[in-house]
Amino acid sequence: MKWLCSLSLVAGLIATTLSPVHADTTQPVHPMVKPQSTQARDAFVTDLLSKMTLDEKIGQMRLISVGPDNPKEAIREMIKQGQVGAIFNTVTRQDIRKMQDQAMQLSRLKIPLFFAYDVVHGQRTVFPISLGLASSWDRNAVTTVGRISAYEASEDGLNMTWAPMVDITRDPRWGRTSEGFGEDTYLTSEMGRLMVEAMQGNNPADRNSVMTSVKHFAAYGAVEGGRDYNSVDMSPQRLFQDYMPPYKAALDAGSGGVMVSLNSINGTPATSNSWLLKDVLRDEWNFKGITISDHGAIKELIKHGVASDPEDAVRVAVKSGIDMSMSDEYYSKYLPGLVKSGRVSEKEVDDAARHVLNVKYDMGLFTNAYSHLGPVGSDPVDTNAESRLHRPEARSVARESMVLLKNRLDTLPLKKSGTIALIGPLADSKRDVMGSWSAAGVVDQSITVLQGLRNAVGDKAQIIYAKGANVSNDPGITDFLNLYEKAVNVDTRSPQAMIDEAVATAKISDVIVAVVGEAQGMAHEASTRSDITIPQSQRDLIAALKQTGKPLVLVLMNGRPLALEKEDQQADAILESWFSGTEGGNAIADVLFGDYNPSGKLPMSFPRSVGQIPIYYSHLNTGRPYNPEKPEKYTSHYYDAANGPLYPFGYGLSYTTFSVSDVKMSSPVMKRDGSLTASVTVKNTGKRDGATVVQLYLQDKTASMSRPVKELKGFEKITLKSGEQKTISFKIDADQLKFWNASMKYVSEPGTFNVFIGLDSQRVNQGEFELL
Ligand code: NOJ
Repeated sequence: MKWLCSLSLVAGLIATTLSPVHADTTQPVHPMVKPQSTQARDAFVTDLLSKMTLDEKIGQMRLISVGPDNPKEAIREMIKQGQVGAIFNTVTRQDIRKMQDQAMQLSRLKIPLFFAYDVVHGQRTVFPISLGLASSWDRNAVTTVGRISAYEASEDGLNMTWAPMVDITRDPRWGRTSEGFGEDTYLTSEMGRLMVEAMQGNNPADRNSVMTSVKHFAAYGAVEGGRDYNSVDMSPQRLFQDYMPPYKAALDAGSGGVMVSLNSINGTPATSNSWLLKDVLRDEWNFKGITISDHGAIKELIKHGVASDPEDAVRVAVKSGIDMSMSDEYYSKYLPGLVKSGRVSEKEVDDAARHVLNVKYDMGLFTNAYSHLGPVGSDPVDTNAESRLHRPEARSVARESMVLLKNRLDTLPLKKSGTIALIGPLADSKRDVMGSWSAAGVVDQSITVLQGLRNAVGDKAQIIYAKGANVSNDPGITDFLNLYEKAVNVDTRSPQAMIDEAVATAKISDVIVAVVGEAQGMAHEASTRSDITIPQSQRDLIAALKQTGKPLVLVLMNGRPLALEKEDQQADAILESWFSGTEGGNAIADVLFGDYNPSGKLPMSFPRSVGQIPIYYSHLNTGRPYNPEKPEKYTSHYYDAANGPLYPFGYGLSYTTFSVSDVKMSSPVMKRDGSLTASVTVKNTGKRDGATVVQLYLQDKTASMSRPVKELKGFEKITLKSGEQKTISFKIDADQLKFWNASMKYVSEPGTFNVFIGLDSQRVNQGEFELL
């Protein structure tokens, strides 16, 4: 009922939101339609700029974060003086309205503010982290998350979101792995594109849409050693082939904003990189929206060693193409002087201010500054009201995001009878199930695994819970996790006492479900790990539980691939649940009891150990590739460990089984401007209905440069009833065959291409064709 009510409010909230999120679609949604012409916008903005003082223009370039350093009263005064362009970190209509009133009633030119926030995987309703959403490989699920997030954000008065985050990463030590869509360029580009289309809707100015700001431009996910904020050094070929396409896809979908990354690229910080922000972004990609520096990035140019002092940092940033400065006082302090002395031209300030005014125009703010606020008196009485959540959709997407990694002897699904021991520090944690960057989500509203299991079994089975261990026994780590919020409860009992209690619980149960992994703060900004195993406290617990001889199911909660070699041997079944959001506990129960048949696939390779990093499926072959079936010494491999990932990219099990036929090519040859299709028939050979993801990979066998052993170029999620089969065809055209060659030309080259189709990146059937 509640959902229907919100639907009626969301006039124009697209029909796809109502369709079951597990239904597969490859249909594009929401082409960007601008309400008025660019000429009308340019004329309006030019006229407005002509009336503005230098200080007012500089004001538009400032993005102020509400916080202890900037109390609301001080901000309201700055707004009145025309010194603020936009605000972030304020998420209630009441607060936002007061600030907008200030701009609209008391500032000289009455230029509306825009309001932004990190709506990365939900606003009020928290959906799975992006890495989890990517695991669904379901385009409809992305659209659902994007539409609902935009709806809830706009209902809170917001106009812009700092999303999607599309940084490719192949280093799971990086804590921000959790915020992105994984290691693959094509999958991430698809997810980013769909997220922009869904959040911005037909028009970011619409009542229930928000403008996106794709981040972090560029290549932030490739920081050295996974150390946050570190340097990136990369060949231009790899940068443009693997790391740039997702940003480009988001911009082609119409993203109005770009957040600039904190790292340097080949020695130049992104924030001072005019090649990146002007030559590539503006000149080659024709971007017309705003560039926003990340938090404090302009100041950081001094520490990067490319600016001598704060004034110099401002000069460098503006000249490099940073329009809006996030959260520092430098633009207002130093830009007026820089313009007066001629070191920054007024034209450069005009250009930046124009970009800001352009996006405000596109947000519809000059037509109605209150469009996302509604009339006075319409603000929700309780911003945290349960009725504002979209629980059914959150549950549906969450269960789709889970990946079954192991299921020995059909341990899963569990029966809803007997006694189940539910163990682990994450089993009853409301905070952790939501994940990091959980926006305006309310911890108390999330469902833990304990609650979810109890909801599912009612009085049919008994669930007995024991914590078993703290997330970590290392006070250094728990203190780190509790630095800014009391995020982790540390049980003061001894580790042994907790394990003993858990073992006793397990002994009187039929099966053990242990919920283990990372606290949400371990997979966040500034949360780089040098060791990506489950913390020792929990490994001790798992070992003790294993000793009981009871069937052992591990439910993993984590925001990055973990090294799970030991656990893979110990557990009978492993379910990767990521951080699954507000409805996480119910969704996990759905999968554990078989009310939903798992269909997720990994968007990142899981290494066996941290020493294998970086490990990714689309590597080059090298001159001496290692062949596990015929190992040879002088080949590229580790001699002290098994090679290859523990679980490969694209992998995930189901409670049913599928077969894939040989690959059928529509033609053995393809013309340069032509296309062909590759098809397989997929059959559900098991007893249950289920969904899986059919994956297409290509390889350019011989080219002027070494090309990856395979690259994902298409996928389709399909649902098959037991015994049902379906033929899936992928169209291949010349665009999918192109790459950046040694002279940085984007070309396809004639020759043989291998075509691989399968249900993960390793178990594939092969075809080939000749590009003429
Ligand atoms: C810093 C983060 O790097 C960025 O992703 C985020 O959007 C901003 N802070 C604002 O919270």
